[in-house]
This record gives sequence, C-alpha cells and structure tokens, in this order.
Amino acid sequence: MLAATTAPAAAWLAGCRDPGIAPDLRPSARPVALREREIQRVVAAQATSDGAGVKLARSLGSRALSMLDPFLMLDEFHTDKASDYLAGFPDHPHRGFETVTYMIHGAMEHHDSLGNRGRLGPGSVQWMTAGRGIIHSEMPKQQDGLMWGFQLWVNLPARLKMIKPRYQDIDPSRVGETHIDDSSVRVIAGEAGGLTGPVSEIVTAPQMLDVTVPARGKSRHRLPPGHNAFAYVFDGAVKLGTSTTRIERGNIVVLGPGDQLTASSEEGGRFLLLAGQPIGEPVSRQGPFVMNTDQEIRQAVDDYRSGRLVDREG
Ligand code: CO
Repeated sequence: MLAATTAPAAAWLAGCRDPGIAPDLRPSARPVALREREIQRVVAAQATSDGAGVKLARSLGSRALSMLDPFLMLDEFHTDKASDYLAGFPDHPHRGFETVTYMIHGAMEHHDSLGNRGRLGPGSVQWMTAGRGIIHSEMPKQQDGLMWGFQLWVNLPARLKMIKPRYQDIDPSRVGETHIDDSSVRVIAGEAGGLTGPVSEIVTAPQMLDVTVPARGKSRHRLPPGHNAFAYVFDGAVKLGTSTTRIERGNIVVLGPGDQLTASSEEGGRFLLLAGQPIGEPVSRQGPFVMNTDQEIRQAVDDYRSGRLVDREG
C-alpha cells in the first residue's frame, strides 16, 4: 500500500547535510527565560482553485503572503461538495522542493512516474521530496462526503534541488499524539512533548504539529529559536503569544522570533504549527517548479516538455 522509499534515509542525505544546520536543543547549564513568539502578521486565506479545479483556501503562496522561508505554499481543502474536489490533481510535475500532504478527513490516492502508488487516509502524511523531478497525480478516493486536508510546500537549498526524488508515506498509526499542558498534539515532524515525529531527515529540520486546544485550555509549545514559524488555524479560534486577538479558522499567523508559543482558546481551536530553518537563497518559481534562478526555471519547463524531467521506472 505504501510507496517504497527510494533509498535509505541516511544514505539519501549523506554528504549533503550541514552538521551545523540542526537546531541546538541541548539543555543549557542554567535556566534561561524563554522568549515568547509574538504575532507578526495575520493573513486570511484566499479562496482559489488548483489542479483540475479543486476549490481550496491558500494562505501561504498568495499575493498577500508569498512565502515564509523555507515554506512556499499552504493550501487547505475543506468541503463536502464533491464537485469541489472530484476532479483532483491529475498528472503534474514538480522540481526543486518538497510537497507535504496531510489529511484530516477523506482519502486521496497518489500515483507517480516512478511507479509509486499509495492511499492517504485520515491522519496520514506524505512528505515527498520532488528533487530533480517527479510527475504525479493526487486524486480523491471517494465519491462523496467530507474531504479535508492540507498541502504544504517546503523549499530545498540549491545543493539539493536536483537530488533523487524520495517519499515518506506515513500511516496515521505512526504519528504519535501527546498532551502538552491542556492541549493534545499530533507530532508529525520534529520534537514535542517528548515525542519525535515520524518524518525524518528533512534538510530544513522542520517542526510540524497539529495542536488541538480544548475550550478554556492553554498550552505552551517550544520552537527551535532559529527557525521561521507560523500557525494556521483551521478549526474554532485561538489566541497566540501574549496577544488578546482571537484568531479564527482560515487565518495564517506569522510568528516573530523566540523559543516558545503560548496558545489558548475560549471555545476550543485547532491549528497547524510549522517551524523550519530558513534557507536564505534567491527563489525563482513558476507553477510546480521552484528553483534559484529564472534560467533554472526555463530549464525545468524545457525538461518537462521534452520528457526529460523524470527518470521513468514504472
Ligand atoms: Co503535486
């Protein structure tokens, strides 16, 4: 059912990982006051459509907020109208970055130019490193009912943009759930509450958490201090940092620097919390290709048109 990993994780990244890139999480000798990450910007997701006409809400990658290094795009699809999603995302290419699919409800089937096929059900995650090129389809596996999930795009540094494609297909049972203060937290990537997420060996050392704050609940979440971070509220409403502003579902919150985020809620709320090491390189992007220069984009388009984007193995 699950797509085979194209190479052992350690071998995949051997020689291309900076030893100094990982956040320093060693306990310090004396206690230091934690710095709260405060709200820098709140941006409402914009209604749009992609693929063959899937209706979605785009929060990152919109005109209002083009990216937050290393994150390039965040889409939420949430509808029970089959006509909003049935057309799916038929065969399309990617090069130069990573696509992450996280399902809350419903199911998607993916199929690609390397012969991988898998089904993503509720709670599952697919972290796909497109590298030098992949052509895949992502199609709803249901004819009706609620379809709810996310797609996140994460950039790759120049030295890894043309790496061999790689998948991590993660069954929901592998995503640990823990309690942090009042909240329950699914740990997808990075560390939280003593758990380490199942997504591994990602160069931007991401932290990806799905946080549910109960009504009248409050929790504090550690975040790697050097990372850029955002929260995307997708159910109910929450308050973040020391701000008293109520952030409702459908809004992305860019967080300032610091070590921790305090979240609270009156009526209950749920949000994705993402943090990643910034890459700090120029970004040239066009549709499904994200490179460093316009010349590299032209090359990707050319490779795709002439059938040289992918190594076909299946
Ligand atoms: Co895709």
